[in-house]
Amino acid sequence: MPLFLGGEQNHVKLNVIENQMKQEKIAVIGSDEVRMWVYEEILPSGEKLTDVINNTHENVKYLPNINLGLNVVADPELHNAVKDATMLIFVTPHQFVEGICKRLQGNVRHDAKAISLIKGMEVKKDGPCMISSLITEILGIECCVLMGANIANEIALEKFSEATIGYRDDKKAAEKWGELFSKSYFHVNIVNDVEGVELCGTLKNIVAIAAGLVDGLQMGNNTKAAIMRIGLREMRVFSKLIFPSVRDSTFFESCGVADVITTCLGGRNRKVAEAFARHDGQRSFDELEAELLQGQKLQGVSTAAEIFEVLKARKWEEQFPLFTTVHKIATGILPVNAVVKYSEHAPRMV
Ligand code: 13P
Repeated sequence: MPLFLGGEQNHVKLNVIENQMKQEKIAVIGSDEVRMWVYEEILPSGEKLTDVINNTHENVKYLPNINLGLNVVADPELHNAVKDATMLIFVTPHQFVEGICKRLQGNVRHDAKAISLIKGMEVKKDGPCMISSLITEILGIECCVLMGANIANEIALEKFSEATIGYRDDKKAAEKWGELFSKSYFHVNIVNDVEGVELCGTLKNIVAIAAGLVDGLQMGNNTKAAIMRIGLREMRVFSKLIFPSVRDSTFFESCGVADVITTCLGGRNRKVAEAFARHDGQRSFDELEAELLQGQKLQGVSTAAEIFEVLKARKWEEQFPLFTTVHKIATGILPVNAVVKYSEHAPRMV
């Protein structure tokens, strides 16, 4: 998610936790240098990815043809990247966050503020654990979230989009993040519902897998819209069951309905799921991800598995036919066309 933020917010040091295995990237421009942790890779040319970013100011592998600005410095050393930082932005695939945070334990400032742009969750023994909570638990710092209808390449080209920041207690930090992220082409709304915002960003990836399957089956627009409605409904019901404080209004923010729409139309989860359906489930998601995303990581399949763990443990499968079906299709338990068959039986009420 490339965001190029204005230079008005001088003297704010923003370090960026970045993992190049995902295309999403953030570049924050203030008067200070912005260090961006980059998972080091050797490119086919034999050069290191960090050297190429620092010499050309372009991430040639994951975000080609976009100028990152002179003050964004790629750093392959995690501890160095966060040293003395007062603001930390997490934008890695969710699968890696816990390991990264454990490596950072004791190495970030106690007064640092964090924000997570990661759309995913972990499931622990005692239930689901949001990524923002994981960051807070391991690092002992407050963590807001930013989610929304934010396809990375489009923001990089400065095409207008909106996003939602969710916070729990630290309204001031949320407002500061809002100032930092806002641009004329990037509008941010702030809501006091960290779990609702984060669950929207997370759960919509499962809906996008379903939308991709529908595309692969060539079911047309009405079916796809029905899948989006059913998916949005399951997102809301699930979120409120897990966190009763979640607000209905959050689902009308960019992080809710807008992210469902954009991801179901143009996201990577949709793309790989479409290919999966076209091959009638005969080629695995892992294989198709490697072929189609070239190093980037899908979130929807692992999120569906994590959510299924919760549904199974709480005997909620029947209440969530779409989430359940997506997981069973992705793991070969159900055929691809089950996405439509089971949705025909989905609850109709809002
Ligand atoms: P994908 O990971 O499916 O590309 O989703 C992008 C996204 O979250 C847009 O808001």
